[in-house]
Amino acid sequence: MSVLEQALGLPRLETAISDVMTPLHTLARRLALAGLLFVPTALSAAETETSTESHAPATTRAHTPRPIAPAEPTGTGLLLEPPLDLSAFTREQFIEKSSTIGAHRIHRPWTSPVIALPPHPRTGAKGLTEREVMDYMVEARRLFDEGKAVPVSDIGLISTQEDVVRQPMFNHISGFSNDAVRVYLLVQNTASDSGWSYFSIVQDLTLTPALDYFAELKATGPKFEGTSCYKCHSSGPLGIHPVREDLVLDAELAAGLNQFIAEQPRSRFHFPPDSPKPEPGKPLTLKFCSRCHSEDGDRDTLYQVHSHPIRVLVDFGYMPPNRRLKPEEIAELKEWLEQKP
Ligand code: HEC
Ligand code: HEC
Repeated sequence: MSVLEQALGLPRLETAISDVMTPLHTLARRLALAGLLFVPTALSAAETETSTESHAPATTRAHTPRPIAPAEPTGTGLLLEPPLDLSAFTREQFIEKSSTIGAHRIHRPWTSPVIALPPHPRTGAKGLTEREVMDYMVEARRLFDEGKAVPVSDIGLISTQEDVVRQPMFNHISGFSNDAVRVYLLVQNTASDSGWSYFSIVQDLTLTPALDYFAELKATGPKFEGTSCYKCHSSGPLGIHPVREDLVLDAELAAGLNQFIAEQPRSRFHFPPDSPKPEPGKPLTLKFCSRCHSEDGDRDTLYQVHSHPIRVLVDFGYMPPNRRLKPEEIAELKEWLEQKP
């Protein structure tokens, strides 16, 4: 049975979902699974009424973004490790472990996938100070801890697959914004670990191009990082890709946050002095990738240092968007990936 067939085991899925969702949510999900890409407006509107907190006009959800396509290995031969078999891992286990962060903090009602922050206090700022960036990171964490964020909870594909952790990687991802910044918070844990770690990305939009700060939020406060984050975050915040279609809460929210991420401005990566840019290796210049991933494309140039997300996103059918590579293109990409830096 393929991962997709597993994920589409509708009866099992429905039982699992009904534990945590209203029948309305279940119906919406079943419609989405049945291939009706857009949840009818009437449903979205009805759901909006059940929300307790409204940060955006109620119309926001009428334009339901396209659902995230399910991850499906395509056998390109680009993966270094066979796809991880998670078939024994249930949605109930996912929800149970995800909820150890505090059930009231996750799977919350929402109208907009991104929480609006108050205006930046320093008007006309051109370039935020490091202190201001850190304050946004701390504020995002505070909002999450107080149950005032609307996090997407999932098991992420990119970190779970291949040799990075090779076990389910649990994520809670929240987005916040005002005119000066886009702030992201990631609360993360692996299946075998008991403690949750906090990470944040702040995009300083007062500069052109925007400047992305990465940090781990430690007990002592944010610690800026660069070297290790850049290996996956080649263009700033990454799209959300659940490892399996039923391992996400909730799918519509994830699609909405993904749309926000996909529409992010071009940005530069801030490397702190103690965590510099890693040796990037050769750039990926194959036209079928670089027409979007290049200096003048939508996304930043990809280098050999990014081979992990490249292998995963191509093999699981996400890149390029909207089509599959031809065998000769796969061969060219494989040859590039195997080149010595
Ligand atoms: C092994 C690859 C990898 C590395 C290394 C990595 N990340 Fe991520 N990160 C991801 C993926 C994949 C997602 C989206 C997860 C999902 O699909 O649920 C993500 C999401 C995030 C998010 C939520 C916003 C977004 O981009 O979707 C933040 C914040 C974040 N990471 C911070 C960091 C920081 C800070 C570092 C370095 C200390 C880092 N990450 C290193 C893969 C990585
Ligand atoms: C039509 C434009 C387009 C083409 C062609 C394309 N990509 Fe992408 N790629 C995107 C966009 C947009 C994103 C961000 C949204 C997302 O992740 O869904 C992205 C995201 C990525 C990421 C995650 C890092 C990032 O920029 O956010 C990787 C890695 C990636 N693509 C690899 C590839 C590879 C390898 C190819 C060629 C086989 C390719 N892409 C072809 C548009 C494209």
